[in-house]
Amino acid sequence: MKIIDELELAGKRTFIRVDYNVPLDKSGDVRRITDDSRIRGSLGTVRYALDQGARVVLASHLGRPKGKVEPTMSLAPAAERLEELLDQKVPLAPDCVGEAVEEAVANLRDGQVLLLENLRFHPEEEKNDPRFVAELAKLADVYVNDAFGTAHRAHASTAGIAGQVAEKAAGFLLRDEIRHLGALLEGAERPFVAILGGAKVSDKITVIENLLPRCDAMLIGGAMAYTFLKAQGIAVGNSLVEEDKLDMAAKALADAKAKGIDLLLPSDHVVAERPDADAAAEVSGLEIADGWLGVDIGPESRQRYAATIASAKTVLWNGPMGIFEIDAFAGGTLAIAEAMAANPGTTVVGGGDSVAAVGRAGVADRITHISTGGGASLEFLEGKTLPGIAALG
Ligand code: 3PG
Repeated sequence: MKIIDELELAGKRTFIRVDYNVPLDKSGDVRRITDDSRIRGSLGTVRYALDQGARVVLASHLGRPKGKVEPTMSLAPAAERLEELLDQKVPLAPDCVGEAVEEAVANLRDGQVLLLENLRFHPEEEKNDPRFVAELAKLADVYVNDAFGTAHRAHASTAGIAGQVAEKAAGFLLRDEIRHLGALLEGAERPFVAILGGAKVSDKITVIENLLPRCDAMLIGGAMAYTFLKAQGIAVGNSLVEEDKLDMAAKALADAKAKGIDLLLPSDHVVAERPDADAAAEVSGLEIADGWLGVDIGPESRQRYAATIASAKTVLWNGPMGIFEIDAFAGGTLAIAEAMAANPGTTVVGGGDSVAAVGRAGVADRITHISTGGGASLEFLEGKTLPGIAALG
């Protein structure tokens, strides 16, 4: 796979697939980007191409407009934000294909940039439709994929187009994601500790299975911990449990034991009568009484987990330890963020909630790598081949 700096870009129409699928606050009249890290993450590649004298055509999706023009999912806020960050004009094309767009691309001069409108306004994007691929390919002399967050989708702009443009490469963001996440799967410096949280065992089981033989310890938190605890016969009260995944959890525990890997579960909890901010809450020991549900890991578990993290040379974290959106139940997740930041080794964070927690704890600059991928980083860690990466090979 080539990297963008191996290509000659001067004067060339350089089509860069970025992932500007950013969270928006839609409560007011003006839609405001609440987290611009995906846009910031693309700056290295975009600036490089512009400095080389490329004519840069940026393409992205935003949300899931289901193949229809949906004004609330226009990329206009992303164009504005990128304009501020680049300190240069970033016009937004009226569409992503068609005559008007071809004309706008033809009018680009060296060192200028144009952002295409939301690719998913066309149903053909997600279908990887060959005619739509050809329409996009018309806009490109060179194809660069920098959209790691969308690399797990085999869409026209992430997979199909790579076969239709003679020169193709990965952008710097995609390269760095592959380097950092790939290093966890192949030859991470030991001890390697993985922390996995979130609500469902079913969402994480393939990652658990793929990482277990590679790590020295795995720490489990979030609601999925209650399925693991119940699988060991421990009382979990009214906590969220996936009854049909108890066998899966029991098998993972047995596998870990057989391989001599520490699979740590919370030994105490913050419990509440309801999963609401105003519900009565207290700390419980290992067993949770009926009428209460676990909403966060408890103080003793935080200490145990932090000590294990401190002993590691490589740490991966994906998924919150509790109902992180509610301040009273965010302590465990924030404690993990702090422990990650305190580790001088290699620390990697992926997944929306854990990335947000690192931001909320104010420690983002002390983490080695913060992934821009949610689903994409999970699929990568599951060991799957991502279509957006495979297409560049
Ligand atoms: C993401 O936010 O995970 C990516 O942009 C992919 O979006 P999607 O799940 O709608 O395909």
